[in-house]
Amino acid sequence: MPISKRYLTPDDLGKSLRQDVADGLTAFPKTLPPKWFYDERGSELFEEITRLEEYYPTRRERAILAERAPEIAEVTGARTLLELGAGSGEKTRLLLDALADTLRTYVPVDVSGDFLALAADQIAADHPGLQVHAVVADYERHLDLLPAGERRLIAFLGGTIGNMAPDERVPFLGGLRATMGDGDALLLGADLVKAPHRLVRAYDDARGVTAEFNRNVLRVINRELGADFVPERFEHVAVWDGPQERIEMRLRSARAQTVRIAALDLVVEFAAGEEMRTEISSKFRRERFEAEASAAGLRVDRWWTDRDGDFVLSLVRPDL
Ligand code: SAH
Ligand code: AVI
Repeated sequence: MPISKRYLTPDDLGKSLRQDVADGLTAFPKTLPPKWFYDERGSELFEEITRLEEYYPTRRERAILAERAPEIAEVTGARTLLELGAGSGEKTRLLLDALADTLRTYVPVDVSGDFLALAADQIAADHPGLQVHAVVADYERHLDLLPAGERRLIAFLGGTIGNMAPDERVPFLGGLRATMGDGDALLLGADLVKAPHRLVRAYDDARGVTAEFNRNVLRVINRELGADFVPERFEHVAVWDGPQERIEMRLRSARAQTVRIAALDLVVEFAAGEEMRTEISSKFRRERFEAEASAAGLRVDRWWTDRDGDFVLSLVRPDL
């Protein structure tokens, strides 16, 4: 199926990757933004993570969706489902089925174009009659370009909101709020604070799938920017930051090494043991979640957790 809209051409993507890599690798400490994990292989590795025994968030969110999808359909009566960071859209099928009576259009939005096209194709094939408009865009930059419409449900699942920097979350939610009509709703999935050993296991699995996912960002930079990272010379690190209530994924340089990034004409030195942050994954408590929603002009209408209280799916509405 063709992509309906491409707000990110391969050229834009290249430009923004160059900028992020130039900024992140010349900073101290070095960082890389998580959106660059997700080329086709990275998206497949993420799907593999979601099936790991240690990685509970996807299973928990799916269980909540399975239980609540009829209620979500009833209280939203959504005609359009706009999904940010849709990925495979696997859990979304529960929503599409429950919303069958009212839903006309599904708009999955993702930065990972090839994977999005495949996923949208499958969903369209399984839902004849549903208009599927896949959009390649960066939800941090293109919110105001996304289709307006009546009675929209915006889904942002998986806990991906936790991958944003804390000081970016309220502006992002405020930007989303600005695009919402009075009858629109936002379905937001978020991972909740829990015992650190469970969190660390979820981000450092025994089979090393998360480690490969983490190192995949180096492969992306090698391919796209002609760099010479040797991924095996970087160790996967997942640590719990208690005060900030977030997991941090890092890549630790196993030895002193020099990396060249041809497209940037940049040479980067890594000290032995130096750690570069590649992702934060913030975990929430209800108070903080509500406070951030409220600061963005939104109110929490429903708060659904799984039986163990591991994950929340929240229905959030404009605070009129
Ligand atoms: N929603 C799915 C996938 C989560 S993985 C689930 O719950 O399982 C995160 C997804 O967000 C990936 O598909 C990735 O490509 C996408 N993504 C990450 N940063 C993005 C950005 N800035 N703009 C658009 N999509 C982004
Ligand atoms: C997409 N996002 C919610 C995942 C998370 O749990 O923060 C990405 C991930 N990183 C490592 N494992 C999964």
